[in-house]
Amino acid sequence: MWSSSVTTGAELSIAGITAKTLAKEFGTPAFFIDEADFRERALAWDKALKDAFGLHAGTVYYASKAFICTEVARWIKEIGIGIDVSTGGEMAVALAGSIDPAKIEVHGNNKSLGEIEKAISVGVESIVIDSLYEIERVAAAAKKAGKVQAVLLRITPGIQAHTHESIATAHEDVKFGFSIASGAAWAAIAAVRTHPSLELRGIHAHIGSQIFGYKSFEILSERLISLLAQYRDEFKSELPELDLGGGYGIAYLPGDETVNPAEAMNALAAAVTKNCGAHKLQIPRVSIEPGRAIVGPTMFTLYEVGTVKDVTLENGTHRRYISVDGGMSDNIRPSLYGAEYTTILANRTSTAPHVSSRLVGKHCETGDIVIREIDLPDDIVPGDLLAVPATGAYGRSMASNYNHVPRPPVVAVKDGKARVIVRRETEADLLRLDI
Ligand SMILES: Cc1ncc(COP(=O)(O)O)c(C=O)c1O
Repeated sequence: MWSSSVTTGAELSIAGITAKTLAKEFGTPAFFIDEADFRERALAWDKALKDAFGLHAGTVYYASKAFICTEVARWIKEIGIGIDVSTGGEMAVALAGSIDPAKIEVHGNNKSLGEIEKAISVGVESIVIDSLYEIERVAAAAKKAGKVQAVLLRITPGIQAHTHESIATAHEDVKFGFSIASGAAWAAIAAVRTHPSLELRGIHAHIGSQIFGYKSFEILSERLISLLAQYRDEFKSELPELDLGGGYGIAYLPGDETVNPAEAMNALAAAVTKNCGAHKLQIPRVSIEPGRAIVGPTMFTLYEVGTVKDVTLENGTHRRYISVDGGMSDNIRPSLYGAEYTTILANRTSTAPHVSSRLVGKHCETGDIVIREIDLPDDIVPGDLLAVPATGAYGRSMASNYNHVPRPPVVAVKDGKARVIVRRETEADLLRLDI
């Protein structure tokens, strides 16, 4: 839930700096990212993949959609793992952070021609193709550039991952990929093979996000490996790459489980080895794309309380509404898919009894809820600071300017020093686009 350098006993601190000091220097709301923790998590996934798969370890591609900025792209480059981008914008940030294009994998279910041409011209490692149209577009763009582009096909394996509907991505009724069951995957393989400007290197699937347990990943490897075997039987050659996507879950609430990288990779390696053995197939290079599991727990959001209001409900009970200075513009996940968070009083300790409270934002929507129900000290007053952990993934990256609220900064904290890596938006930023 919290990153490794956070202490929460008395006043919250991260890497030795207290919440009060941070709020004074950087204002609120703000995201604070624990740099050492980010690096440790990325390295842990890299090590886990290498330890579990040995010679067959492919690449850990950090899923940049979870959160990216130029400085974090520099960290990725230094750590030495790859990156998955799904738009031209994410690719631009990766390149601005000097990530070697040969470590960039390009996703997206509707890449523009411009995005495809840019990816090919900078020399990305691979493009994961998502539709028949895109096969033609990538082939034509590669031909025009005089290149042979390495591609993977995004496959829909027909798996109902146990997570929220909006973040389950591999059952049949989704916009992503080529379905195995309907024969679309096989048609796509045949279509790619007709283009000399494309080199089919393998297949990819991503079953969803915030997934626990390894069963879905085992079924995924079984289905994809049987497609690889079908390919070998038909074309008498083997595809060298298998990318099994991201989706590993993290803890948001006290007591939540979290996925252990070594355990997850050992389970995956066991499943891949078993399924390849069953088909007498060589083990391909296996890659993964964790986003949330790397960046999620590394950040917390610090808010300042602005108002506290008790309302009387129809049944005569009371509900306390605590309003903070951010909300759905910096964390859309609770309103988007009922995601749950916790919070703690960050600027002081309190011995006051706890009362059931609802933490809300400052936006003009009743649904602007950060935490629907949580017991918080009775003596919380305007000016207090509240810290919400595990906001690193899909928080700042999904932030909006709803109500023309400037988006919060991201501040990196390490060894007692804090520095802004994404500055706070200003009203001038908001006005800059208006003609
Ligand atoms: C193709 C692909 N890979 C990886 C990810 C990262 O998922 P997570 O952050 O849950 O690890 C996503 C998330 O949507 C995705 O669509």
